[in-house]
Amino acid sequence: SDRPRALSGIQPTAGSFHLGNYLGAVRQYVALQETHDAFYMVVDLHAITVPQDPAELRANTRLAAAQLLAAGLDPRRCTLFIQSHVPEHAQLAWVMNCITGFGEASRMTQFKDKSAKQGADRATVGLFTYPILQVADILLYQANAVPVGEDQRQHVELTRDLAERFNSRFGQTFTVPAPYILKEVGKIYDLQDPAAKMSKSASTPKGLINLLDEPKATAKKIKSAVTDTGTEIRFDPETKPGVSNLLTIYSTLTDTTVAQLEDKYTGKGYGALKTDLADAMVEFVTPFRSRTREYLDDPETLDSILAEGAEKARAVAAETLAQTYDRVGF
Ligand code: ADP
Ligand code: NA
Repeated sequence: SDRPRALSGIQPTAGSFHLGNYLGAVRQYVALQETHDAFYMVVDLHAITVPQDPAELRANTRLAAAQLLAAGLDPRRCTLFIQSHVPEHAQLAWVMNCITGFGEASRMTQFKDKSAKQGADRATVGLFTYPILQVADILLYQANAVPVGEDQRQHVELTRDLAERFNSRFGQTFTVPAPYILKEVGKIYDLQDPAAKMSKSASTPKGLINLLDEPKATAKKIKSAVTDTGTEIRFDPETKPGVSNLLTIYSTLTDTTVAQLEDKYTGKGYGALKTDLADAMVEFVTPFRSRTREYLDDPETLDSILAEGAEKARAVAAETLAQTYDRVGF
């Protein structure tokens, strides 16, 4: 294919994708299937950078794959696979580890945040080096575009630096990728604390929309979202972060511009916006939940999609790794 390549990965976290994952990343995965030669994976190698239960990891990995399919990934239009099924990820990561400065890796803010949460003594070397595994994830597929949320920008920048470094030291080997981050949805905020990003680990249950939660509970969370003083429905992240976050979510889910929404709600209160958004959310999550359930209830289909995906991914990854090994002198 002469299309540009896209690559991204999502962690098999417990339970469910949240609305930030979906709007910030997964929605773009679905769109880029149409324009790119796209590779998407469930990054189970990344999931063991913090302590895991093996049975839970196995179940969560399948659940993540089922959710990606439910969100609209089509195995005829993209390559969907599980990271650990393609051993080249770990192999290329070692090479990339060996051209990364210790200080350079130490500057990764995600490591600082995540290790602070773990406690300094508990954080593993795996957690420290996971951005470099991510570098390998991207470079293996010669990706041009990396659809992610804003929190991943620094890791894509690191990927660019290391690709350029490797290329200049050993000869042209890797495509230098660019982050694909949509300004509007690169950071979806916590419903209860619109200054903070919506996050699986940091948000309180009321501030976090899990896509697989009961639709009624989700509607309730929307209705009790923190809004701002005043009554006017206007997009202004500085002074109206709560309302602006709701407008972003509503506009993206319904393919309406924020300006159209501001018009629609002129003279109406926050309650009207919340009620309509709650309805739109229920309309979105209801089929998403049932499609996810269908994939989980048909393990043979899911396994065969993932096996085929791993085979297609491996063909590309093996070629890049062989060339890299040759360049470094193996
Ligand atoms: P989490 O950040 O919840 O631990 P992941 O690290 O697996 O989940 O993130 C999966 C994708 O979702 C990444 O591309 C990440 O940038 C994106 N993402 C996560 N939270 C948000 C958010 N609040 N807004 C926008 N994108 C987000
Ligand atoms: Na993240």
